[in-house]
Amino acid sequence: MSSRLHTHLGPMFLEYPVINASGTLDLLETADALGLDGDYRVPVAAYVPKTVTMLPREGNPTPRVAEVAAGMVNSIGLPNEGVKAFVADTLPRLLNLTCPLIVNVAGFSRDEYVSVVERVSRALADELGSDKGTWAPRVGIELNVSCPNVDSGCMSIGTDAEEIARLTQAVRDVWPTPLLLAVKLTPNVTDIASMALAAEEAGASAVSLVNTFKGLIVDRDTLKPYLGGITGGLSGPAIKPLALRCVFEVAAVVDIPIIGMGGIACTQDVVEFMACGASVVAVGAAGFVDPWLPARLAEELEEVLCERSLTLSELIGKIH
Ligand SMILES: Cc1cc2nc3c(=O)[nH]c(=O)nc-3n(C[C@H](O)[C@H](O)[C@H](O)COP(=O)(O)O)c2cc1C
Repeated sequence: MSSRLHTHLGPMFLEYPVINASGTLDLLETADALGLDGDYRVPVAAYVPKTVTMLPREGNPTPRVAEVAAGMVNSIGLPNEGVKAFVADTLPRLLNLTCPLIVNVAGFSRDEYVSVVERVSRALADELGSDKGTWAPRVGIELNVSCPNVDSGCMSIGTDAEEIARLTQAVRDVWPTPLLLAVKLTPNVTDIASMALAAEEAGASAVSLVNTFKGLIVDRDTLKPYLGGITGGLSGPAIKPLALRCVFEVAAVVDIPIIGMGGIACTQDVVEFMACGASVVAVGAAGFVDPWLPARLAEELEEVLCERSLTLSELIGKIH
């Protein structure tokens, strides 16, 4: 990828400014299915795996997804193997990927988030050595305080600026600067800018936005809620203008980088998110159709930058 696209996300060097959104791309499963091993090419500049929690989770009852006009509603409910199995089996494989790793973490209380990050941190010390400064270019944490599909914890922290600040500070104690600490925000609030500001002031090195918008699907036959989890989270092109507004509002108040996401499916979407203030963008639902989309969007972004005679940093926040 051309040096025109080279960028940094906090302490992390990225070959290009496009990554995946957590929960929408399973690189290890894909590699296993394709029989890939070793230094295979990845379609993202940094990889964000699915959210990991303290204990294993089965996720919500089915049905868990529904397609709607210009998007999808999911009520997956954070199924995952739990941090014990994650650090034993998954993390070592993720550290072999040819790109930096951003581990996405959730909990049902502040202490649980901190414990999960501590467990990841201890495992990293075994894998990478105890000097945390040397981890900074390779691994970061994203705190998911925004999942609309679990009963407690997660989203109740993400809708309260003081709780976001307390959590960010507590995690910073065990995941110190310069390590990347991104806080992933929910759009299901009145003022997302104040949530981002709380994260920044408490020591976050980036904010990710947005997670999904809380929604409901009605079963057309029974006229009852269709999804097993009753409500779900809307993603895809339907939310793009809403997400752009969030990025625009947050960029006006924070100095830390924004990882922008919400309905990104083509290069023009990437350009618009960056113009609104995102330094890096993430592909979510659109990656289900084409897992190689992030890398392709980056290639096309370079063409747009050439055509418009813009550098990446000139594009970021141009609307402001
Ligand atoms: C099926 C599905 C699963 C998701 N799982 C997670 C998750 O585990 N952790 C998380 O932080 N976000 C999760 N998300 C939210 C996405 O990362 C992203 O924030 C959201 O979908 C908006 O982007 P999009 O419109 O491009 O999909 C999930 C989204 C979808 C559609």
